[in-house]
Amino acid sequence: MATTHDNDMNHLLDIKDLSRSSVERLFEQARYFAKIDSKQLKTRHQGRSALALFFENSTRTLTSFQMACQRLGVDINALNIAHSSTNKGETLQDTVLTLNAMQPDLFIVRHQQNHLQQQMTEWLNNSTSIINAGDGTNQHPSQGLLDLFTINQHKKDFSQLKVTLIGDIKHSRVANSLLDGLQIMGCSEVQLYAPDSLIPDNFKHQQASSLKEALTESDVVVMLRIQKERLGADINIDFEDWHQHYGLNETTLSWAKTDAIVMHPGPMNRGVEISDEVADGPQSVILEQVRNGVLIRQAIIDHILTNS
Ligand code: NCD
Repeated sequence: MATTHDNDMNHLLDIKDLSRSSVERLFEQARYFAKIDSKQLKTRHQGRSALALFFENSTRTLTSFQMACQRLGVDINALNIAHSSTNKGETLQDTVLTLNAMQPDLFIVRHQQNHLQQQMTEWLNNSTSIINAGDGTNQHPSQGLLDLFTINQHKKDFSQLKVTLIGDIKHSRVANSLLDGLQIMGCSEVQLYAPDSLIPDNFKHQQASSLKEALTESDVVVMLRIQKERLGADINIDFEDWHQHYGLNETTLSWAKTDAIVMHPGPMNRGVEISDEVADGPQSVILEQVRNGVLIRQAIIDHILTNS
């Protein structure tokens, strides 16, 4: 976990701040939490409190953080942003300083602006820990960690894997965190497939020339949603056409290894990036990702609260 310069306050802002050994320690702790009866954990962080500030929609990530906190005995309040004072003209900085004056131990924050959580650490002078639950198109580190954890449960050696990501890479903070995380874990064979305009320049060297090339010999196939809300007017996508060229279905999945796993961070657009048969099929680990999300978030929160 990243330790900031001037004290030992911990944050999780960007997966790149983690070393391979700190990722492995989080995995170990998540495996421990999977085994233990959660009733035994109820007093582990009793008296500690977290505030969830979600300025963007979320179903699984917010609920997952809430369940992770509850299992560790952490009181969590999720602020209803629709009713927050930022709608009454208060600056975001004032809202954050006001909430911090209530002395939470931890903020869990999702915001549409890249690096907002980093900015918050400065506003708060590092007085309170912050977990980034997604900032714009930049990072989603807890998702990256749960994805790596899920891969690790099925495939032992990251250095031997071919991982394929298909879909809107350009606007996906999930893709950024996973690609950074795969690098941390020593996975060198990563292929990306999407229309050219949806692959950022810094990832062009990993771009496959066809769906078949991307999937052939793949061990892990990660499908991504088209982030409609982030597409500029300059990109015109025919959603009907998408499945034909970029979709995963039984035929296209058969190009990957027979024991390849299929992942998706959710929310899924069935029939667009993934067919029903594949989403619900034997190679899909999509619901395992969701289950692992709670365990990894427990490990992250446990680490931060133990060290702060
Ligand atoms: C993603 C997100 O919000 O970044 N979902 C998630 O957290 N599991 C991806 C998405 O919205 O498509």
